[in-house]
Amino acid sequence: MFICPECKSKMNLPQCLCGYNVTQINNVWQLTDTPDMVTGGNGDKYIGYEHIGESYSGDRKCIIEASDAFFAKEVSKLTGDGIFLDLGCGDGCFAVPCAAYGTRIIAGDISNSMLRILQEKANYNNISLDKVTLCRMNALEIPLEDESIDTVVANSVLHLISNPEKVVREIYRVLKKGGIFICKDDAPGKTNETPFDNSLYFEIVNAMYSEYWNELNSLGIYPKKYSWKFDRNSFCEKLFESKNVHIIEYSKVYDVPLRSGFFARFENRGFSDQAEVPREMHASVLSRVVNKMSALYGENFLDISCKVFEDDITITTYKK
Ligand SMILES: C[S@@+](CC[C@H](N)C(=O)[O-])C[C@H]1O[C@@H](n2cnc3c(N)ncnc32)[C@H](O)[C@@H]1O
Ligand SMILES: [Zn+2]
Repeated sequence: MFICPECKSKMNLPQCLCGYNVTQINNVWQLTDTPDMVTGGNGDKYIGYEHIGESYSGDRKCIIEASDAFFAKEVSKLTGDGIFLDLGCGDGCFAVPCAAYGTRIIAGDISNSMLRILQEKANYNNISLDKVTLCRMNALEIPLEDESIDTVVANSVLHLISNPEKVVREIYRVLKKGGIFICKDDAPGKTNETPFDNSLYFEIVNAMYSEYWNELNSLGIYPKKYSWKFDRNSFCEKLFESKNVHIIEYSKVYDVPLRSGFFARFENRGFSDQAEVPREMHASVLSRVVNKMSALYGENFLDISCKVFEDDITITTYKK
């Protein structure tokens, strides 16, 4: 059901009839040799998270968040006995809880380090990956046969790719007739109505962020916002046969600690606008920012957290 990276014909892993052998690195089939990230040139661009890896979820990297487990349950139900492709699966926030239901999964990402964290998450939670095929793949050229997949999720991925239309056409191609592209969106609103006072938390985050970038700007380094706009809904409505939307009431209260949340990621240059900040410059600017924050908000300023309502979840499915 795979496509050979060499001769582009159908193949089963690991060896193609043309003689090409797909290698595995840390259990991950290497189905592409395209770079981890492409930010220049005339071709399609994308931001893989190889350089973010560990700092993506900080010390929560092995935790299965309740709302992700919730969504994973829906995906498993919709997939049934079929095959689920988690495209740009990252650290496995959906693939891992989905695997707990015994769902057959192809977990694809351009980043080997994210796929390594996915395996750590599964081990930590004692979830078997027996039915999960881990693949380093490029969403712009999915190495799967036409009409071979039952469900696809590509969550928080399309905005990282300069040609999201091409990715969605690829998703459509690999889906079986009747297969579905499942999208998860927040149903915003509740967060704004929060009865909790988070003003100090946001004041600190904003102060830290602007101090950091003001100093970097004076050194000639600017945040890179790699995020491409895409009207997924109008594109998918034209491409797919039908669409269905349902909202899952969720609205749970949860805590977002500054230290292990925003700060852990910020400290490790884990936000994509930090992708091109030189490592040493980052370290020295950040340490000055932290000192300034301590002077302003007290030494324990990182112990603050933010209390919010998690928004309801909208699940939109597009059927081929
Ligand atoms: C923001 S993370 C989202 C991870 C996960 N789907 C989630 O919802 O949390 C984006 C992921 O897309 C991957 N990615 C970016 N460009 C890609 C591409 N061209 N092909 C495959 N994966 C890509 C990154 O490596 C990263 O792991
Ligand atoms: Zn081949």
